[in-house]
Amino acid sequence: MRLRMTKYPLEPDVEEMRRLIEAATERIVEHVQSLPSQPAANVEGATEFARTLIEPLPKNGESFDKLLDFLFDEAIPRSFTTPGPGYLAYIPGGGIFPAAVADLIATAVNRYVGVFAAAPALAQLEANVVRWFCEIVGYGKKSGGLLTTGGSMSNFIALVTARKAQLGDDFSRGTMYAGNQIHYSFQKAASLVGFPLSNVREIDCDENFRVRVDAMEEAIARDRADGFTPFLIAGSAGTVGTGAVDDLTALANLADRENMWFHVDGAYGAFFMLTERRRAAMRGIERADSIVLDPHKTLFHPYGTGALVVKNAAQLRDAHSMHASYLPQFQQEEELIDFAEISPELSRDFRGLRVWLPLKMFGIEPFRELLDEKLDLTRWATEELRKIKGMEIVAEPQLSLVAFQLSKHDNRNLLERINRRKRVMLTGTMLGTEFVIRICVVSHRTHMDRMQMCIEDIRAAVAEVT
Ligand SMILES: Cc1ncc(COP(=O)(O)O)c(C=O)c1O
Repeated sequence: MRLRMTKYPLEPDVEEMRRLIEAATERIVEHVQSLPSQPAANVEGATEFARTLIEPLPKNGESFDKLLDFLFDEAIPRSFTTPGPGYLAYIPGGGIFPAAVADLIATAVNRYVGVFAAAPALAQLEANVVRWFCEIVGYGKKSGGLLTTGGSMSNFIALVTARKAQLGDDFSRGTMYAGNQIHYSFQKAASLVGFPLSNVREIDCDENFRVRVDAMEEAIARDRADGFTPFLIAGSAGTVGTGAVDDLTALANLADRENMWFHVDGAYGAFFMLTERRRAAMRGIERADSIVLDPHKTLFHPYGTGALVVKNAAQLRDAHSMHASYLPQFQQEEELIDFAEISPELSRDFRGLRVWLPLKMFGIEPFRELLDEKLDLTRWATEELRKIKGMEIVAEPQLSLVAFQLSKHDNRNLLERINRRKRVMLTGTMLGTEFVIRICVVSHRTHMDRMQMCIEDIRAAVAEVT
């Protein structure tokens, strides 16, 4: 189908709009339906293929159908199948379908949600989502926050806020403290915010990969004696290596005693607050000054959906607020939010809709049930792994992630053999000097049938190497 040439080709007429959407819908639905039978990853030769795509700025248009064919037949399949049920690598998310529909609506109506005055009702819908997240983590009325593009951006905005609140403009002696299992986006954020990387103290963890609070306290005391200004403690609510949750109450107590900002990276783990079973593990999170949550992980959303909530929203505003004469007046009432006033962005996509719409359509219950299912699947997989001779569970899983290794074997080779079957894709990480393999069960599309395949493939790969 070629776009009909009208006087203004960038403005298709009614029929053309319908045709575009219908043609895309057909390919999308077919693709999503086929996810369970797609390989978990398909990137052999993908780099070479990518190189063949380099081309000059197109002068003339091509048929939409042909472009759809190219996308769905050539480009999309040559990738990790991140939305598929076998994707148990890194931290999956899946991408629930109604969120994609919400994106189509949001970009088609293209309203401006950076400033409240431009679309008050739509800004409010997004603010509602943030309020719901505040409730999930147990924050009170003064809290607030925003949706971001992901955990890295949320960590960055949190550090900007903490720096302003704790240190003001002269911050070069400010030091921050986190377990050595903290996600690297924390160190990256510190660096982007302007701190020397050496001001980030990586504290040892215990045998369960939770930060040693006593060691952190000692490091803070040492730094004070050396003339530094310890200003921030970061806890992990779900590390990327093993899914460990730090003792958040102990960290909150330490931050109180030391008069420091308490930040929690809950990009992976914080939504497990929705489950009865894991809420207790997160106790203390509600005392954090700032919390990162990633809907594109444990709320099964498409990539590009992160969140930051802050206990005292005024601090977020203090760190980011600026105005210019060409902008509309910002809101004076605290509960009406101008996202431009509390974040680095001015123009932004209406990302709130992709969270608001599914939550309104389904309510929170199916999300809670899915998270419970992931906890069950992880527990089941852990017990199955234990039955394999020579297999060591590196740490008892605290959330939906289990790290393991086959003792006295090359675990990189084992991982490669598991993944070669293409029913699941796992990844590994270094824990100290050891390479370990991880299964991270998050996708809303991963159920027992896929976990059984996962264990079968691990068993088969183990049989090959032993
Ligand atoms: C614990 C944790 N924090 C932060 C991030 C960074 O999030 P994003 O990839 O959304 O930037 C990740 C990503 O996996 C993570 O697992």
